[in-house]
Amino acid sequence: MEKSLHSLSLQFGTSEQTGKTKQTELISSKLMADPRIGKAKELLAAALKEYSSTIDAVRSADPVLVPQYQEALARLAVARGGAPYFPYITSGIGNGPFVELGDGSVKLDFIVGIGVHGLGHSHPAMLAATVDAGLEDTVMQGNLQHNSGSLAMCERLLGLANQHGAKLDHCLLSTSGAMANENSLKIAFHNRFPAFRVICMDNCFAGRSLALAQLTDRPAYRAGLPKTLDVDFIPMFHPADPEGTTRGAIETLKRLLARHPGEYACLWIELVAGEGGYYPGTKPYFEELCKICQAHKVLVIFDEVQTFSRLSQPFAFQHFGLDAYADLVTLGKITQVCATLYGDRLKPKEPVLSQTFTGATASIRCGLAILDELESKKCFGQNGWNVRRHQYFKSKLEQLAKKYPGKLSGPYGEGMMIAFTPGDGEADVAKDMLMRLYNLGLMGFLAGSNPNRIRFLPPPGVTTEQHIDSACGIIEQAIREMGE
Ligand SMILES: Cc1ncc(COP(=O)(O)O)c(C=O)c1O
Repeated sequence: MEKSLHSLSLQFGTSEQTGKTKQTELISSKLMADPRIGKAKELLAAALKEYSSTIDAVRSADPVLVPQYQEALARLAVARGGAPYFPYITSGIGNGPFVELGDGSVKLDFIVGIGVHGLGHSHPAMLAATVDAGLEDTVMQGNLQHNSGSLAMCERLLGLANQHGAKLDHCLLSTSGAMANENSLKIAFHNRFPAFRVICMDNCFAGRSLALAQLTDRPAYRAGLPKTLDVDFIPMFHPADPEGTTRGAIETLKRLLARHPGEYACLWIELVAGEGGYYPGTKPYFEELCKICQAHKVLVIFDEVQTFSRLSQPFAFQHFGLDAYADLVTLGKITQVCATLYGDRLKPKEPVLSQTFTGATASIRCGLAILDELESKKCFGQNGWNVRRHQYFKSKLEQLAKKYPGKLSGPYGEGMMIAFTPGDGEADVAKDMLMRLYNLGLMGFLAGSNPNRIRFLPPPGVTTEQHIDSACGIIEQAIREMGE
């Protein structure tokens, strides 16, 4: 627990002056080295472990707690202007992918807040990082408030991004994936003025701001909203017709560029369509499109808000070998704080980027601790944990697909993004299955439309083969129930 606190503060911690014996030490370093703090953290960690470790399997609700839980859910629906998607309020404790709810039930959480809790629930490293953050002077960091964690996070993300040859020099932190994408679009437009159009792929999702609603290929998500941007769509790669979809995308892109010369600022890409249904592209497909964009001076933005840390490399653009094309990259979710990475040549010349908040001190420290843990658990690499867990989950789902023909197809996705199509993929079948899974104790979420899929984002740092076995056992139970 001491390590993370020290590794940040030591950036300014002590210095020996040449030729003098005097040592300077910051007050913050003295605070962090105070034995009372180490002791307090040990006690907190021991207490958490004692209770958390008892949460080790799916459990049904305690009937005594159900009435007050139902009442809390009803109040939540009123307060937030609608019932939450799942009847889900946690008690505030869990253990890896297991989480205890306020009715005493325990769920196997394979969606983790849509890909956010990379180490699952109640992880000791998150407690340690949060306590460290509580000892810092401010809750939030921002453009007039940089603590050493901001510096550490920016450098860490840039180091990871550039390890295979990308040239991303700067990192702008922000509090949401939407804001990271907004910032990337601003940088692209600013550098390509007066270009005003964007190219996206069919089926994509970019976030919930007014501008991003235009990029997102879901008409319902922009119902009643004014048009803010000119966006054109090209076909996404489809494994059922790799050559046809690749050719179709290239032809459409060329046609658009010829029809609107000089009007496109950027191509914005999700390398695995997340919300859209877990459709990954391939290197040749993406590379062709990126090359054409480069030739036309159209900037390439990779949105890694959902993919970051889930494939064989920290970044999906590294997984697909597209480092040479990464003009701008956005990320978020699992890092707890979001970011826009870009090259120095794109640095805006006017003050178009700024925010009061770049992130919470705790989010930044927790994000760094998650990155430490994912690297030390060897999540990355061709034979890394993410790839191996994917293979295991995939083989289990394939067995189910064989055993129950017509009930489940797939799986789809890459790494720790995995999905299947229930039955014929109709919306009501998928929703029925999702809710059955929830009631039986497994949390996933919907993705895509036509077909509608059920997706999982298991926490990469803590998911084991036993957890995957439990998840598949629950999926089989749900299939059986639906056949009754
Ligand atoms: C690919 C992608 N981009 C952007 C976003 C928006 O992120 P946020 O919800 O943090 O604004 C999401 C969120 O699901 C996403 O999946």
